[in-house]
Amino acid sequence: MSERVRQGLAMIAILAATLAGGAMWFQRGGMAPAAEGAMPGLAASLGGPFSLVDQEGRRVTQASYAGRFLLIYFGYRYCPDVCPTELGKMAAALDLLPATTQARIQPLFITVDPERDDPAGLKDYTALFHPALIGLTGTPDETRAAARAWRVFYAKQTVGRDADAYLMDHSSFIYLAGPDGRALRFFPPETTPEALAAALHRAVAGS
Ligand code: NI
Repeated sequence: MSERVRQGLAMIAILAATLAGGAMWFQRGGMAPAAEGAMPGLAASLGGPFSLVDQEGRRVTQASYAGRFLLIYFGYRYCPDVCPTELGKMAAALDLLPATTQARIQPLFITVDPERDDPAGLKDYTALFHPALIGLTGTPDETRAAARAWRVFYAKQTVGRDADAYLMDHSSFIYLAGPDGRALRFFPPETTPEALAAALHRAVAGS
C-alpha cells in the first residue's frame, strides 16, 4: 500500500472517529474550521494519558509536561523520508515563534519502533532537528497504547530476508494538545511551516 493510500486511510479513520462528536459539530456549522484541521469533535476522540520513557531514560506521562501545549509526532528514527520532513517542519515552525510562545510548547517525537529506538538513539536523533524536541519510547505495549489513543497507524514491513532490516509504515500527522493534555487539532502533511507556526501562535495566544 502506498504512503498516499495509507495517509488516506488514516485520515478516514480519524474522520470516522470524529463522526460521533461530529453531529454536534455539523450543527454548529463547523465546515470552515475543518478545512484547516481544527475539529472540535477531535478533542473528545483523540489523545489520552500515556506512560513512556524519555530520551534521558526517565519515565514520563502527559503530566510531566503539564501546563505546556504538546506538539506530537509519531514516527521512527530510521524513517527514510517522511519523519525527517515532518520533524523539520515542526522545528521550522517553532523557530518562527517568539521565544515566549515557543517556551509554552513542548515538541515530542514518539517512536513507533521501540525495538530499535532506545533513549540514547532518540536523543541523538532529536538533536538533529530542534533543541526543544524530546524523543519518547517505551515497551511495545506502551507504544501501542499511546499510538492507539491518537489513532496512529503503524506496521512493520520487512525488507528482504534480514529480519532486522525493516521499515515501519505509519500515518503521518502532527498533533497539538492543549496544556490539559487534550487534543486540539491535527495537521496533515501538506501543512506548511508558516501555517503550523500561525496555528501554534493562535493556540497559545488564545489560552
Ligand atoms: Ni516516518
